[in-house]
Amino acid sequence: MRCLSSMGKALLLLGTVPFAAAAPWHSRLHARADNSTTAAPMYSLSSDSAFAFQLEVILSLANGGGVSPGEVLRAASQIKPGEFESFYSEFKFLADQMHDIGAHINAEKYPVSAREAFFRAASYYRAADFYIHGNPDDPRIQTIWHSQLSDFDAALHLLPVPGERYTIKGDGFDIPIIFYKSNAANHTRVPTVVAGSGYDGTQEDIYHGIGKEIVDRGYNLVTYEGPGQPTVRREQNIGFIPDWWNVVTPVVDYLMTRSDVDTDRLALLGLSFGGTLAPRAASKEHRFSAVLAIDGLWNLQQSIENALPTALVELFTSGNVTAFDTTMKALRVNPRVPTELRWLIDQGMWSFNTTSPYDWFQRLGQINLNGTLEDIDVPMFIGEGQNDNSTAGQPQIVVDELKKLGKNYTYHQFKTNVGAGEHCQVGAEAQLAQVTMDWLAQVFENKMTSAQ
Ligand SMILES: *[C@@H]1O[C@H](CO)[C@@H](O)[C@H](O)[C@H]1NC(C)=O
Ligand SMILES: *[C@@H]1O[C@H](CO)[C@@H](O)[C@H](O)[C@H]1NC(C)=O
Ligand SMILES: *[C@@H]1O[C@H](CO)[C@@H](O)[C@H](O)[C@H]1NC(C)=O
Ligand SMILES: *[C@@H]1O[C@H](CO)[C@@H](O)[C@H](O)[C@H]1NC(C)=O
Ligand SMILES: *[C@@H]1O[C@H](CO)[C@@H](O)[C@H](O)[C@H]1NC(C)=O
Ligand SMILES: *[C@@H]1O[C@H](CO)[C@@H](O)[C@H](O)[C@H]1NC(C)=O
Ligand SMILES: *[C@@H]1O[C@H](CO)[C@@H](O)[C@H](O)[C@H]1NC(C)=O
Repeated sequence: MRCLSSMGKALLLLGTVPFAAAAPWHSRLHARADNSTTAAPMYSLSSDSAFAFQLEVILSLANGGGVSPGEVLRAASQIKPGEFESFYSEFKFLADQMHDIGAHINAEKYPVSAREAFFRAASYYRAADFYIHGNPDDPRIQTIWHSQLSDFDAALHLLPVPGERYTIKGDGFDIPIIFYKSNAANHTRVPTVVAGSGYDGTQEDIYHGIGKEIVDRGYNLVTYEGPGQPTVRREQNIGFIPDWWNVVTPVVDYLMTRSDVDTDRLALLGLSFGGTLAPRAASKEHRFSAVLAIDGLWNLQQSIENALPTALVELFTSGNVTAFDTTMKALRVNPRVPTELRWLIDQGMWSFNTTSPYDWFQRLGQINLNGTLEDIDVPMFIGEGQNDNSTAGQPQIVVDELKKLGKNYTYHQFKTNVGAGEHCQVGAEAQLAQVTMDWLAQVFENKMTSAQ
């Protein structure tokens, strides 16, 4: 699972700094980093706070066999803070090593060893890809993805119940999905969780994060990607779209055709920006029995605006496209600007398939939850990380709206003192799964009781 980076953590400190003054940003960030051993809620693997968070995300894949902690800690020790190419090359090195190990294993004889090596190789290829989207024509964006897809698929075939890849026809685009059939689903229909990620996450990451936890509980798991998300963006050149139900509905249509899916017990789960995308989809796609937002996210654009320097927000609001584009393009190539902001702009333009920062930010604002929750009439789960400052206050806005509308929802704050306070509970997947999946089991059980 990859989530929106913890941009807010650093940028909140910069709110009063004029955006033209790059140097103070730099020194302030490092001042904070120097204090991090006493003040930070989590141990930092890099003095660059964005890298530190991303390394935490990568490390968290260990939960479902996606990485080995020692391998990640080694890479972390070699990565130069703030240098995107360094992040790329350390993980590319690790990925190639793991790929070689996998490729030399006789997979028929040693399927577990081969599977583990290929899963880790794929994770490290994805990690290497994370900071290279600044130049959309960089050929590595495609080549590294072929490597990750092919190694992930090699591992997928070696699971005790092999994962199944399908391409579902959407309206104007194709939707790649992976179906992980539950062990319990041999001769019967079982509840099924449809899980999607957000602004930068991949469906492959989901398996190692909450995905394996879902399958372990006897449910089928379906992961999917829509426009703007890694594989669709690469293969079909399409950026994010607001009508997310057009991504999810074809997936549900497909599930209706399977004999191993209990179509009365379907749940939709969204991670990070998926905390907006999933409820948006569920507002028009009514065949789910439950919707989970990990975490609650009312409006990502608004959340970013709260963290940006005021002058930059005013420039956007003024509607001067040329001036906003020029300023943002200068910021993204300025190494003194915090990694959080540089990455956010790079990833935003890439994932919205645009060359204009203004176009990105304006379209991002159209994807929010205002006016959608009215149309969801099934129990909702809204999560929040206690020290998630990247989307500070957002889950509360969702909860306030649900309360106002008289909806059936459960809110849960995951705590910092037990390591679950990060964005999307990164690194505390067992706690996330325990709380969300036990809640879901109860919702499914109630549904069966009330149907009798
Ligand atoms: C560390 O934090 C303390 C208390 O918040 C502050 O006074 C000090 O200046 C900080 N040190 C650095 C190097 O930023
Ligand atoms: C379903 O099939 C798998 C693979 O053949 C087997 O390992 C598992 O025990 C079966 N589960 C049930 C509930 O029969
Ligand atoms: C994505 O951007 C490319 C390059 O600008 C363009 O050719 C393509 O048509 C865009 N895709 C969509 C769906 O707009
Ligand atoms: C937009 O900003 C540019 C550069 O700051 C400026 O030259 C131009 O006059 C502005 N346009 C409008 C319509 O305000
Ligand atoms: C939702 O949109 C309406 C109309 O634009 C606005 O008045 C309202 O404040 C918005 N709600 C929230 C919680 O932002
Ligand atoms: C995050 O925000 C909370 C209050 O919302 C604050 O107590 C905490 O210190 C912040 N954490 C970081 C790392 O900035
Ligand atoms: C809300 O949903 C939960 C889970 O299904 C259920 O236990 C509860 O009774 C519902 N509450 C209301 C007020 O409908």
